[in-house]
Amino acid sequence: DSPSMIKKCLFPAAGYGTRFLPATKAMPKEMLPIVNKPLIQYGVEEAIEAGLTDIGVISGRGKRAIEDHFDISYELEHQIAGTSKEILLDDIRDVISQCTFSYTRQVEMKGLGHAILTGEPLVGDNPFAVLLADDFCTNGTGVLKQMVSLFNEYQCSIVAIEEVPRDQTRNYGVIEGTEIQDGLFKISNMVEKPAPEDAPTNLAIIGRYILTPDIFDIIRNVAPGAGGEIQITDAINEQCKNRMVLGYKFKGRRFDCGSLDGFVEATNYVYGKMNK
Ligand code: UTP
Repeated sequence: DSPSMIKKCLFPAAGYGTRFLPATKAMPKEMLPIVNKPLIQYGVEEAIEAGLTDIGVISGRGKRAIEDHFDISYELEHQIAGTSKEILLDDIRDVISQCTFSYTRQVEMKGLGHAILTGEPLVGDNPFAVLLADDFCTNGTGVLKQMVSLFNEYQCSIVAIEEVPRDQTRNYGVIEGTEIQDGLFKISNMVEKPAPEDAPTNLAIIGRYILTPDIFDIIRNVAPGAGGEIQITDAINEQCKNRMVLGYKFKGRRFDCGSLDGFVEATNYVYGKMNK
């Protein structure tokens, strides 16, 4: 068997984004900008940096805003051609020229695990990455690039983890495992949204995954968990009972842009670093 390469990255973007209403009434929260770039574009740029150029978006309402963003707008091109503003489109033009985009709709919001299963036709029988664009990661080498190089070595599912304050475990999936090298854990157990007293550790899963395709059959058979949703954490917990699954403490800084506080912090951070 030759080692598998990863080319595909799924972007689940079908959540309701209720914490950002009314902004998310007609567009997904993944289109919210950090300064002047939508969260999902930062995510796609991170995927490209990792060599993942087959982009699969799982959308719900507001699919059009994402599709139009990753497409050429002839009117706009015509309008700004030759002006000083052209430079503002450089990044998105690069993204569009380097990637192919596929879209599918999650018709019922039955959870992240279910959203990922909805992406199966876009992925097929290949290992793939998942990026939750509302976890905005920055500072240095992209998290997915770090994870792809680990995947090339270990050829197994990998989840990105971060230490969080104990009193916040309820907001995350939490792992338990043995540290096999600095910052790399072989996972033995995972729990979704545990109360602090039930959390086995404070190592929380953040929105970057590499998954082997056997995960799809597992998701199909997993029962609804926390919040009555099909949880990807429960499926990966099944997977780790039979195969090696790794938890990787990524290098860099993450902002939870699914929350108002994290979103404003990220905005200030990025704005502070811009050349103005
Ligand atoms: P969240 O738990 O942040 O939920 O989803 P949400 O609905 O987006 O936001 P709030 O809590 O109402 O403000 C985590 C990620 O999983 C995706 C979301 O789009 C987000 O990227 N997701 C979640 C789906 O694609 N489908 C689902 O059924 C649930």
